[in-house]
Amino acid sequence: MNDTRRAVLDALADGPMSGPELADALDVSRNAVWKHVEALRKSGFEIESTSDGYRLGEIPEFGPAVEYGLEAPFAIEYHDSIGSTNDRARELAGEGAKDVVVLTDQQVGGRGRLEREWVGPSGGVWSSLVLRPEIPPSHAPLLTLAAAVAVTRAAREAGVPAEIKWPNDVLLTDGEANERESEQGADEIPVQPEKLSGILTEMEGEADRVSWVVVGIGVNVNIDADELPDGATSVQESVGTINRRVFTQRLLEEFDTLRAAPEKILPAWRDHAATLGQRVRVETRTGTVVGTAVDIESPGVLVVETDEGTVRVHAGDCEHLRPA
Ligand code: BTN
Repeated sequence: MNDTRRAVLDALADGPMSGPELADALDVSRNAVWKHVEALRKSGFEIESTSDGYRLGEIPEFGPAVEYGLEAPFAIEYHDSIGSTNDRARELAGEGAKDVVVLTDQQVGGRGRLEREWVGPSGGVWSSLVLRPEIPPSHAPLLTLAAAVAVTRAAREAGVPAEIKWPNDVLLTDGEANERESEQGADEIPVQPEKLSGILTEMEGEADRVSWVVVGIGVNVNIDADELPDGATSVQESVGTINRRVFTQRLLEEFDTLRAAPEKILPAWRDHAATLGQRVRVETRTGTVVGTAVDIESPGVLVVETDEGTVRVHAGDCEHLRPA
């Protein structure tokens, strides 16, 4: 958001002010004040003209307003509807952008992991973060784990019992992370997931240095379950509709805190994981691993105890199992 527009909002947050008072306070012309007020109205801010001057009404529930009051150094590029926020973020990354978040209400060509389609109706939080971290490519998966923790924390603050399924799905669960017993039975069946969020990380770089990373985060927020595919659920189904501006701000702030302290990412992931202590089946490129997930190691390797010994899984599709 333009600095003068932010200053107009900050000034009006303390009460109504006339055009000339604002012009003096911000050291701009009255005409400039009028133009900034009009631009803010266009982006959804309610600014009434009263006899006491301009009066700030409700802050919009979503939209460009996500940048207002955000305590993390991200600029927001907002769209009402777009094909894929990851595609737009990749374009921006190619142009040299850094710490920009592409955000949309509706996504009509969303992409998921493993070239799957991602359904993104209006009411979600579909976002892609353009980052330029100074890390080797092998450390990039930690950013994905940080994003999963950030989504989980923001969801829990909104009252939703969320947990992470390895590597980075956020599920609606019974809220008993790490407390469930792992029971090995002859017949085990997959637990039907209730997926709230998915993350798709893409990057470009050389062998020893990342050029850019795009972390695409999709969260089913104010969406009816009927609009979502089987196995998906939403924040709305759990606690009713919430304020997406506040939710998105908390998500971005948590992510920003974690990226600044990478040593805290794995411990935080462990604290929020549904997978640890679980019987799991992981489909990997080289075969299927069945056992009990016991830990995660940098930069996101799942440690599974199987009948044949300990197996470290670097990538794959994971299902939680329960006795039939
Ligand atoms: C998955 O679980 O398969 C990952 C889904 C990632 C979806 C998000 S929504 C925002 C961003 N834009 C995309 O096209 N995909 C990601």
